[in-house]
Amino acid sequence: MASANSLREKLEKISPSEKTEQVIVQYFANPLLYELGFDDLEIRPQFETGCGKVDFAARKNTEATDIFYNSQKNPYLFLEVKSRTYDLSEGSSTYEEAVDQVKGYLSRERSKSAKWGIITNASYIQIWRKHGKVVHPATANLSINPDNIETIVRDLRNKLENYERALTICVYNNKGGVGKTTTVINLAAALAAKGKRVLAVDFDSQGDLTRSFGLSPGEITLTQCLKDPKIDVHSIIQSLSYPINNRFPYIFDSTLDISFDIIPRDPELETLTDSQSLAYIQKGTRRLRDLIAPLRNEYDYILIDCPTQWLYFSQSGVFAADVILIPTRPNDLSSLNNAVRVITKFIPETARSRQDGGPIALPTFFNGVSSGSEYTIKLANEEIDKLIKQEKSVDLRPYFWPHFKKGNEDKSIFRIPDYAVISSASFARTPAVFKRRRVLEYYQSLAREYFIDE
Ligand SMILES: Nc1ncnc2c1ncn2[C@@H]1O[C@H](COP(=O)(O)OP(=O)(O)O)[C@@H](O)[C@H]1O
Ligand SMILES: [Mg+2]
Repeated sequence: MASANSLREKLEKISPSEKTEQVIVQYFANPLLYELGFDDLEIRPQFETGCGKVDFAARKNTEATDIFYNSQKNPYLFLEVKSRTYDLSEGSSTYEEAVDQVKGYLSRERSKSAKWGIITNASYIQIWRKHGKVVHPATANLSINPDNIETIVRDLRNKLENYERALTICVYNNKGGVGKTTTVINLAAALAAKGKRVLAVDFDSQGDLTRSFGLSPGEITLTQCLKDPKIDVHSIIQSLSYPINNRFPYIFDSTLDISFDIIPRDPELETLTDSQSLAYIQKGTRRLRDLIAPLRNEYDYILIDCPTQWLYFSQSGVFAADVILIPTRPNDLSSLNNAVRVITKFIPETARSRQDGGPIALPTFFNGVSSGSEYTIKLANEEIDKLIKQEKSVDLRPYFWPHFKKGNEDKSIFRIPDYAVISSASFARTPAVFKRRRVLEYYQSLAREYFIDE
């Protein structure tokens, strides 16, 4: 088996303008897979994914009779190799193409078990993680050379061996009243009703989420925990349980009580507004990410609710997240404009300071669509067309029209209807999804559209 040293040497031997993919495969990609911990019987070249062949698929063999090379079942990782003349620098159209290609491979039926996709041309390397339906970058697109390759490969191997259980979702739009808090509450409950382990974090000093559940802070508070890294984050988590037997008999795909966890807001959080009080929080907007880090292996989903203003709380929520879910209102054109600000400004800013490739925006959705509002939707779609045309730096189409493809100009946008029970539920201290079967269906379809791979 090759050693990291020889990978360095091999990289040194590849010409900076190597045109043939085969050379990259032989001198770099294959040795890379060995370094990541796979041996020949665990690597399958030219693996058919169902939408084309990926250069390599790999998976650890679990027992003597289960040889991945032979069975080609349950791949764990894909490696897509390009030549050095194939431009993989970020922002190039060929980079975008390669990313789409790997996302495509990862989302096929045959690839259900696959968790990782690596793209490399021996000048750049990036690894993408799959969690349910979501594929998001797990590293920045790294420029590689003989000096840094050992460190990079060690970090990659570390990631592969410590796959984190949770996807962290921040629900954010820089516009108020679009349904951020409502989405966190009902999506959390809908995912929990699907048997997922869910944590919702109220990172809005107004505390709408905490109030909707009728919770009050425990003895140790979120603010104390933010200020003192020695406090165990588990001490601020509260559990909610909804016994389904008599109260919610319509949730038939679950037999146990539905439970999920909340980190509630405390009143002191409101004092964290100026630089003087924020000075008590080490690492500022990075602190929340560190605070929830130990929980990433305990939950399937961590949802963060934040306030509208792009200040400390929302900057922290976006910084802590893998993906940002952006609700908009079709009858509120500024919610569409603000969504574009989040996509083109706030998220890229955050990604630049994080330097690990994330977070990324998921496609936006329409929240609160009332029946008979086709005219409103038409106006919203015209506004979206305009925004897409205006924006020169980013192709916004996949952020508004997730199913839009060449030859299939599908401009549909996911919708959550306007429904009175959704707004009245917060007074009842019960998520609306537990009050009406139809509301549960709305939010479970949101969960299926974006997150759950069933
Ligand atoms: N789909 C919906 N149907 C009916 N009412 C909704 C819906 N989504 C949100 N609301 C209501 O709209 C108001 C604003 O929602 P909220 O979640 O508090 O927005 P944000 O957190 O973005 O400020 C609330 O009164 C909420 O109950
Ligand atoms: Mg809110």
